[in-house]
Amino acid sequence: MDVKWNELGFGYVKTDKRYVSLYKGGKWDEGILTSDETVTLNECACVFQYAQTCFEGLKAYRTADGKIVCFRPDLNAERMERSCERMKMPVFPKERFIEAVKATVKANERWVPPYGTGATLYIRPYMFGSDAVIGVKPANEFQFRILVTPVGPYFKGGVKPLSLRVSDLDRAAPRGTGDIKAGLNYAMSLYNIVDAHEQGFDENVYLDAATRTYIEETGGANIIFITKDGTVVTPKSDSILPSITRRSLLYVAREYLGLKTEERRVTLDDVSGFAECGLCGTAAVISPVGRINDHGKDILFPSGMKDMGPVTKKLYDTLRGIQMGEIKAPEGWIYGID
Ligand SMILES: Cc1ncc(COP(=O)(O)O)c(C=O)c1O
Repeated sequence: MDVKWNELGFGYVKTDKRYVSLYKGGKWDEGILTSDETVTLNECACVFQYAQTCFEGLKAYRTADGKIVCFRPDLNAERMERSCERMKMPVFPKERFIEAVKATVKANERWVPPYGTGATLYIRPYMFGSDAVIGVKPANEFQFRILVTPVGPYFKGGVKPLSLRVSDLDRAAPRGTGDIKAGLNYAMSLYNIVDAHEQGFDENVYLDAATRTYIEETGGANIIFITKDGTVVTPKSDSILPSITRRSLLYVAREYLGLKTEERRVTLDDVSGFAECGLCGTAAVISPVGRINDHGKDILFPSGMKDMGPVTKKLYDTLRGIQMGEIKAPEGWIYGID
């Protein structure tokens, strides 16, 4: 095993073990860890024909004192429960979800990047309908799986501020499924992310589908703004993914940094009044945004295109510190893998 931890991008690397549990006859089996990274399915499996699938994403970190920890896996279990209900899939129970995450990380211990390399172990729990279905209806059999892969920064260029563009498309189709992580949602955004990259942008900012006035989120992360007087503002919307990072950051801003926070509707017109902007998510961590291009017109944040804004940096350092075991975490946020 010869991994250059410092040079890892955000890609798939085959690791030692993955978790698999099968649902059949109305119940989940006890689950196994396997070395086999392939999945063999019937050609008519519901996941292929109707994209009956959903997923989660979280990370394991190697802390300053060499331990391995996970950040708030209970919230991923709860969000996946909502995704499953919305996609007509059986729920994988929360306690089992957490145990399976721990077991999978433990079985791949040597793949958890060393402290200080900037790399982490990305954990991808996912579920899909696995038996043959040709009429439009949910599957009867399902697989719940967890794979892990070591990753570096999500955006190329590390912490260089990003360029976003306001998108003309809706992120999620059909409407109203923006708060779940389902395969179909993301497939519908692939055209748009490829186009954004071809046009030289790092990501798309989506507006609300009904009025195209309010900021929602980006393709793979929620968005935060900092006002000129240091208040952390984040868009309130029922159709964005309830980011665990964003929810944690708002708490950190208030309780650790003494900042004011506001969850409210943010119009595209409001954006030019903010001092700083950033994307937040498990993969994005907190990535600074330097500009948002609105149909050819650039909105530039005073924090610029070189560095993270000062408040964004404080949020980043504090959250990172909590995840890496350098700063005491709130009760119940950190799960040890042992
Ligand atoms: C569309 C979208 N929004 C937000 C997020 C951030 O969510 P979290 O902080 O729970 O990782 C993600 C992460 O994958 C995402 O895909």
